[in-house]
Amino acid sequence: MSPRTSHPHPSAASPDSAQAAVASAHLMNTYARPATVFTHGRGCRLYDAEGREYLDFLGGIAVNALGHAHPRMVSVIRRQAARAIHISNLYHHLYQAPLAARLAQLSGLDRVFFTNSGAEAVEAALKLARAFALAHAPAGSPLAPSRILALENSFHGRTFGALSVTHSSKYRLPFAPLVPGVEFIPLNDVAALRRAFTADVCALILEPIQGEGGIHSVSEAFWNAARELATHHGAALIADEIQCGLGRTGRPFAFQKFSSLPDMVVVAKPLAGGLPLGALLASERFASAFSPGLHGTTFGGGPLTCATALEFLDVSQQPRLVANVRRRSLQIRSGLRALARRFDFIREIRGEGLILGVELARPGAPFVQAAFSHGLLINCTHENVLRLLPPFLITRRDVEEFLVKFEAALLAVIQPGAPQHAEAPAAIPRASSAAGKIEEP
Ligand SMILES: Cc1ncc(COP(=O)(O)O)c(C=O)c1O
Repeated sequence: MSPRTSHPHPSAASPDSAQAAVASAHLMNTYARPATVFTHGRGCRLYDAEGREYLDFLGGIAVNALGHAHPRMVSVIRRQAARAIHISNLYHHLYQAPLAARLAQLSGLDRVFFTNSGAEAVEAALKLARAFALAHAPAGSPLAPSRILALENSFHGRTFGALSVTHSSKYRLPFAPLVPGVEFIPLNDVAALRRAFTADVCALILEPIQGEGGIHSVSEAFWNAARELATHHGAALIADEIQCGLGRTGRPFAFQKFSSLPDMVVVAKPLAGGLPLGALLASERFASAFSPGLHGTTFGGGPLTCATALEFLDVSQQPRLVANVRRRSLQIRSGLRALARRFDFIREIRGEGLILGVELARPGAPFVQAAFSHGLLINCTHENVLRLLPPFLITRRDVEEFLVKFEAALLAVIQPGAPQHAEAPAAIPRASSAAGKIEEP
């Protein structure tokens, strides 16, 4: 059967079915997508080609932290696109250094290298750790420390280096052999970390809150031990804040709940408001291991993305928005706890700020589908953890609507056929919260 006819489609001549046929014929088979075609968004809402509205509690997997079509993002992109989209990294432009200074000031680190994605920021961090180890290897020693420690359930990206420190064998095995010398430690197992952290280690990479791994947080004891061991061995402690960083926890960086700094931090996803931009931040000590020619990129840190990222940081660091992240988090968690008292298959609610996970005692995929058909976008990670990464500007009413739709999705799966009370996706876009407007609770 031709792929054009085998792809499911919602209605015979819909824009969705036409797109689905082309997608099925010409896109590589890397994502299992529903047939729906999204056309535009506003605030925390997305709209599909048939005019249905969806409450976006996934936010492009932590990218759309200011929602869709935020007026200040739109305006800076328009302005900068008309001035210069790309200027080679062979030259300075107006925005790269100021953005580096802003990230340094927010993080307490010193220097920045810009990339196009999270995985590339991880690659840069691993290379910097190796370059630093080589530069500081004792004179006469045959080999510089090169082993890398990472955590079980970690996710750091799909390129070879990043994949090598990503734990899940389903991502790794088809591409082996990967970069050698990586060892995985169980999360928060201080004794295992101490056993593995020997003098030949050049880096430990960890997510302060594991995203793809099911929203699990690094404990203070583990962080402190990691800091102590890395300092003792002259190895790099690398915090991967690609998913949990840049305001999502209610702090600029998730690691800032601990009392010590990492040596490097990698960020990406929301940094340029949806344009592709990542960054490696490092202390002066480690950053000094890079010199001209050792690492580079064509696109990373161009004027369009950097100008937009400066605007993103200005907007996302406003005290009112930071307070909103914390308040909405409390509201979501208290609503979910109430649901957990009624639905005994909700095992645990985890996370902080607006990176939250709901662990179920059963597979999560049917709930994601049911939520979708009720006009709610969430996803499932680690098979049974429903993940919420809504934009920072969600309002109290958005959260109330989320809880109604989430409950309807739970009921739709466990009692198929029972009457549902939550609204299905509206056929015509309804009045929604204006992009950028934050309603006080
Ligand atoms: C913690 C973490 N690190 C790295 C990555 C890879 O980022 P990218 O997809 O931009 O390469 C991701 C992506 O989901 C991530 O969540």
